[in-house]
Amino acid sequence: MRTIIYYFTGTGNSLAAAKTIAAGLSDCELVSIASLRNTPGDIVPPAGRVGIVCPVYDAGLPVIVAAFAHRLSLAGTRYVFGIVTLGGAGGTSALRQLDHILKERNSRGLSAAFDVKMPGNFPPVHRPPEGKEKDGILASADGQLTEIAGRIQKGEQVPVGFSLFAWLMHAATYRFFSGSVHAGDKKFSVSDSCTSCGTCAKVCPVGNITMVQGRPAWQHHCELCCACLHFCPVEAIDLHSMQGTKGRGRYRHPALKIEDMKAQAEGNR
Ligand SMILES: Cc1cc2nc3c(=O)[nH]c(=O)nc-3n(C[C@H](O)[C@H](O)[C@H](O)COP(=O)(O)O)c2cc1C
Ligand code: SF4
Ligand code: SF4
Repeated sequence: MRTIIYYFTGTGNSLAAAKTIAAGLSDCELVSIASLRNTPGDIVPPAGRVGIVCPVYDAGLPVIVAAFAHRLSLAGTRYVFGIVTLGGAGGTSALRQLDHILKERNSRGLSAAFDVKMPGNFPPVHRPPEGKEKDGILASADGQLTEIAGRIQKGEQVPVGFSLFAWLMHAATYRFFSGSVHAGDKKFSVSDSCTSCGTCAKVCPVGNITMVQGRPAWQHHCELCCACLHFCPVEAIDLHSMQGTKGRGRYRHPALKIEDMKAQAEGNR
């Protein structure tokens, strides 16, 4: 059966997850959710099986993914799976949100739902893991994803789980997060160590950064994916939220390249 996996990523975990799943399925195409952001109308996947793979943000979906799910028409789809990657907690509430949106839109929700722990990429909350710790988390995620691909291939039904903690987290934070995320980039700053290389603008999945006099200027339609923060080669970008990001490490999935991020924004994978 033909499969389309729609993905969104800031630092490569979800793209790597989508690729591992695709490798385990025959006839599978990856489509970037960010590349569809300015297209009009419903999205009708030309495939019998559809997957959505994305990170967890504040125990919910990235806002761009929630908006995408509202446009997804599943009339011709037989099997729908959701996979969220996360640093710690909130996976089940993000999957519940996805399931709920799909049911509202299509009278049917997820056939199978999975959350996969990967390195956390939000330094104001968790310092990204390094060295052996990072390698261990990635190896474990890879094994889990290979197993998930087998279950999807068999057409297993996997209901969305429930965690009271995740639900409480979502209830306490997600409304504020989703209402303020686009202007959340006002909390970014750039230091004098900026070399005007333009990488931050190149990797932004939603074209939210323009270069003004050699410095990034954020345009307030941010998704808070943190790609700009993590890709800056001289760590000139900081995010002034909670504990901040100065000296708190940076993270990118080892397989992620600048070209992957450009392809995500432009849709030419
Ligand atoms: C704005 C933001 C909010 C996040 N919120 C959560 C969260 O609620 N729970 C969690 O476990 N991880 C959270 N994370 C971490 C990411 O979900 C996790 O690192 C994910 O694998 C990143 O995927 P990506 O590399 O595809 O962008 C958050 C990350 C960001 C940038
Ligand atoms: S400006 Fe930075 S954090 Fe915001 S969407 Fe672009 S890359 Fe992600
Ligand atoms: S990636 Fe860093 S050094 Fe390059 S333009 Fe952006 S802020 Fe400056």
